[in-house]
Amino acid sequence: MRRWIRWSAYTAATVLTLALAAAAAITIASQHLLARKYPVRPERLVRAPAPAVADAPRQARLLGCLSCHGDGLRGNRMFDEAGLGFIVAPNLPRLIRKRSDQQIAAAIRQGVGPDGRPLLVMPSALFSRLTDAQVSALIAWMRGLPAGGAPNLQRRLSLLGRITVLNGDMPRQPELLPLYRERMPPDLSPEHAPGHYIAATVCAECHGPDLSGGDRPHADFNSSWINPTPPAPDLAIAAAYDLAAFTRLMRTGVAPGERRLGMMSEVARDDLRLLTDAEIDALHRYLQARAAPRADP
Ligand code: HEC
Ligand code: HEC
Repeated sequence: MRRWIRWSAYTAATVLTLALAAAAAITIASQHLLARKYPVRPERLVRAPAPAVADAPRQARLLGCLSCHGDGLRGNRMFDEAGLGFIVAPNLPRLIRKRSDQQIAAAIRQGVGPDGRPLLVMPSALFSRLTDAQVSALIAWMRGLPAGGAPNLQRRLSLLGRITVLNGDMPRQPELLPLYRERMPPDLSPEHAPGHYIAATVCAECHGPDLSGGDRPHADFNSSWINPTPPAPDLAIAAAYDLAAFTRLMRTGVAPGERRLGMMSEVARDDLRLLTDAEIDALHRYLQARAAPRADP
């Protein structure tokens, strides 16, 4: 009997030691990845014309800045409930007083913080496709927002959160930039430029870098094993919609056959409803052209 107790104690101690060693290894390895410094290219910025700055709040809605950074971009804690620790989408009006325009633009389009470290969850790989004019307008608008709200906390990752960094489920944004460059949706023709741009910068967040379906890798977070949501389909599906049905989906989230969808209906009601008629028309025409069979060059 005594012997049995002693062996149990040994086993428990061994298991505990191994668990602590594994936790330490995970912490050290993920810290190593998160502390890596990435080189930053100089950003080309322009003087944003007043109408573009006036339209920036709408653009920020469409691009999801407000969904993650909260109303007025005053900051938001993310993933609290998923056991990942928390990631802070910072209070931007407060934070950017300490940042140069170059640093803000590099965070948005290159996924690096002011110290050259990689950003997490902020979909910079997707935003690397934003034009100089649009980024400049967003920055000018953010500079004019009233600073208030709570001070920024540092992100804090749990062990589970660190595992998602190691296995790539929570990608370091600079690592995804090449993928978003290579898998740009085909631009087809100058006539389709406006629709192509919206598809590549707004829809691609969930429907995948080249719109062929948003399985993985996802720009911000591959939630497959923590929060399984159905993947967004290849946008070839939009070719089956006529303009009226497409407009209805964008404005209300209701799909043909009175279907209410999951995340798609939510993002339509929250954000996509702000697309103008002209934008919806351009997007629809682009998606139809993209789905049409093409002769190989
Ligand atoms: C999917 C959620 C999400 C979206 C969408 C998003 N952000 Fe972020 N953003 C974050 C998170 C999270 C961080 C902090 C990342 C970190 O600490 O690693 C961040 C960081 C930033 C930073 C860096 C701040 C610094 O440290 O210098 C800027 C600037 C920024 N976001 C601007 C924007 C703008 C502008 C948009 C829209 C074009 C946007 N974000 C959209 C989640 C998001
Ligand atoms: C935040 C993520 C997200 C964004 C952004 C997004 N979608 Fe979706 N979309 C989804 C998901 C997920 C589905 C699958 C249905 C569901 O679960 O809601 C979907 C489904 C669809 C469908 C198929 C609906 C059907 O008939 O079943 C169409 C068409 C579509 N999206 C168009 C678009 C277009 C166009 C854009 C850009 C303007 C866009 N989506 C942006 C997530 C998104």
